[in-house]
Amino acid sequence: MSKIKVGIIGTGYIGDSHIEAIGRIGRLELAAIADVNYELAKKKADAFGVEKVYKNIDELINDEDIQSIHDCTPTNLHLEVNEKIIKAGKHVFSEKPLGKTSAESAKMIELLKNHPGVVAGVNFCYRMNGLIQDAKHRVRSGEIGKLYLIHGLYLQDWLLYETDYNWRIEPEYTGVSRCVGDIGSHWMDLAQVISGSKITEVCANTVIALPIRKKPAGQVETFSVNKNQDYREVKVATEDYAGVLLKFDNGASGVFQCSEISAGRKCFIDIEVDGSKASFQWNQQTSDQMWKGNRDSNNEQVMRNPNLAAGDSRKYSHLAAGHPEGWNDAFKNNLDAFYGYILDGKKMGKDPCDFATFEDAHYLMLLTEAIIKSGKERRWVRVNE
Ligand SMILES: NC(=O)c1ccc[n+]([C@@H]2O[C@H](COP(=O)([O-])OP(=O)(O)OC[C@H]3O[C@@H](n4cnc5c(N)ncnc54)[C@H](O)[C@@H]3O)[C@@H](O)[C@H]2O)c1
Repeated sequence: MSKIKVGIIGTGYIGDSHIEAIGRIGRLELAAIADVNYELAKKKADAFGVEKVYKNIDELINDEDIQSIHDCTPTNLHLEVNEKIIKAGKHVFSEKPLGKTSAESAKMIELLKNHPGVVAGVNFCYRMNGLIQDAKHRVRSGEIGKLYLIHGLYLQDWLLYETDYNWRIEPEYTGVSRCVGDIGSHWMDLAQVISGSKITEVCANTVIALPIRKKPAGQVETFSVNKNQDYREVKVATEDYAGVLLKFDNGASGVFQCSEISAGRKCFIDIEVDGSKASFQWNQQTSDQMWKGNRDSNNEQVMRNPNLAAGDSRKYSHLAAGHPEGWNDAFKNNLDAFYGYILDGKKMGKDPCDFATFEDAHYLMLLTEAIIKSGKERRWVRVNE
């Protein structure tokens, strides 16, 4: 079988993870990478043995060898880059959030309607953790009964100090929301995937805890500590924190908080679903384990175990129980699902898939905007109101 030739645009923080995950899938060949920072792309190409390196993204998109392209550029470029990829008739695997606004993500969905042969996915990677897929099947089979509550957290600390800076702070790059769009969207994706239900209404408190930040003169890499002494003070317009009440279309209620200013929390995603018979709780920092809460018997610690995986989640659980799988494995599962779909000749809109579609990502954009609107207007807001 010939391999699918893949290209990556944007070789910054998340670009590295795409390079590594592609390398783990035998049916793929990473044939080219491109970054406006050519030196960076060249360094990565040399390190990972990638043959072609481009400075200009059009050269990569128009390279006839390339069949599928990953868009790992900052969020403000997703519309422009994804549009070019779709119009070139190539498969697109985009980073999230899908755009700066829901108007942008809606435009991408319209474009896809004219290119039905293009398979389009978005990297909501946490949903592809083996135990999340396991929990999804267990919830759907009725193991925890009727769903009452879905609640949790996504906490980080990488923007705690006023000297912490990244392009994500600025609406020009990140869009209308920072914390909710960047990390809250991952939590909401998990909540919707596990529950099999959509969030339809939100009531939010959004907070800019650091209204002034010190913007460094030079670029600061994502998640790195700013050592730059040369800065200017800038006003911040995007939220550091959100606390959000939720209503789901299956009648369940929920609440989550997301923060980028919680000292000591790095990638603390915690989610719990409480049903009429039992509860499940999962935390990404111990992502190979899940807690099952019972009312009339002892609680259980569930260890990911391919031999016991529910439904067809077995395909996303690889190592024997006791050898922990984590973020990189969920990431690889996501690409496996995306490229398996392409290789099986499946069609978007007709065949279901486990990876997030552009429609899923667009809905998360609508939710993000509803949360920001709710925070501003201090009231419940329906999605797409
Ligand atoms: N799925 C996840 O869990 C996850 C995690 C981190 C980041 N992301 C998303 O990935 C995207 C990139 O984030 P990041 O943290 O890697 O940012 P980054 O700043 O580390 O990397 C972005 C790269 O894009 C390059 N670039 C900028 N303009 C370009 C252009 N015109 N042409 C080609 N390359 C260009 C930059 O030089 C840089 O190397 C964002 O949308 C972010 O939200 C997703």
